[in-house]
Amino acid sequence: MRYFIITGASKGLGEGIAMALINENHHLLCISRSESVPLTRMADAKNCRVNFFHFDLAVSHDIPVLCNKVFSEIDAQKTEGIYLINNAGVLNPVGRIESCDPAQVENHIRVNLLAPMLLTAEFIKAFKGIDTQKRILNISSGAAKFPYYGWSSYCSSKAAMDMHSLCVETEQKDEKYPTEVMAVAPGIIDTDMQTTIRATSEEQFIHKKKFIEYKETGKLIPPNLAGLKLAELLLSDTFDSGKVIDLRD
Ligand SMILES: NC(=O)c1ccc[n+]([C@@H]2O[C@H](COP(=O)([O-])OP(=O)(O)OC[C@H]3O[C@@H](n4cnc5c(N)ncnc54)[C@H](OP(=O)(O)O)[C@@H]3O)[C@@H](O)[C@H]2O)c1
Repeated sequence: MRYFIITGASKGLGEGIAMALINENHHLLCISRSESVPLTRMADAKNCRVNFFHFDLAVSHDIPVLCNKVFSEIDAQKTEGIYLINNAGVLNPVGRIESCDPAQVENHIRVNLLAPMLLTAEFIKAFKGIDTQKRILNISSGAAKFPYYGWSSYCSSKAAMDMHSLCVETEQKDEKYPTEVMAVAPGIIDTDMQTTIRATSEEQFIHKKKFIEYKETGKLIPPNLAGLKLAELLLSDTFDSGKVIDLRD
């Protein structure tokens, strides 16, 4: 059995990744505030175990308790692999930094950066002595490398996530049973996050027209297709720990 801890599998890209991982030898452990009925139905039909843990990843101090619950589903002595996919993310707040609500900035950093860091820490601690494939896939963004006007929270959280992945790799590479880690930008995906981008005012986000054009010219990738590519990468020999990549390259 392989175990996949996936944040934000209730919709969008996370749901696409989870759908691609449905298999009777896989157990999906999904963390989000709501759940995906299509995912649960599809998993049931294919005899794949799936649990949804209802949790707000902004509640940082409860993450260790959450992990205890999630990890108790894992039979670490008998597994072929344990995987953490840090996918949940938010875009807001959007706008010049001085116009952003401080509480929204804090919430953003908690969900996009602090939660993946704390989940990673708990994951590494819990499975340190386990000799199996252990991999963490951090969902990054092209925004980690390009300073978009109005997206200082988003660009910063994704850039920090990339650097966090690189640091964890340097800490893990000489371990007896290392955890591998990659950060991957998935391309532009047709999800609610893109709907949010197109709904912002041009004053808040000066690149809005470009993103409307992506949608109108069919440039957005369906979440199931991006999810499939990411799931394949996660389980393949080309998973290259310590690398930060863009799926489009
Ligand atoms: N869409 C794109 O073009 C694109 C491009 C590059 C990178 N990405 C990245 O891909 C990832 C997924 O984005 P998406 O486009 O699929 O967005 P989405 O459709 O808005 O889905 C976001 C997911 O994150 C979860 N989430 C958000 N806030 C949460 C919280 N406080 N606690 C727990 N879960 C939370 C949501 O679950 P609940 O609402 O049920 O809690 C949902 O499952 C993000 O990291 C994003 O930055 C997206």
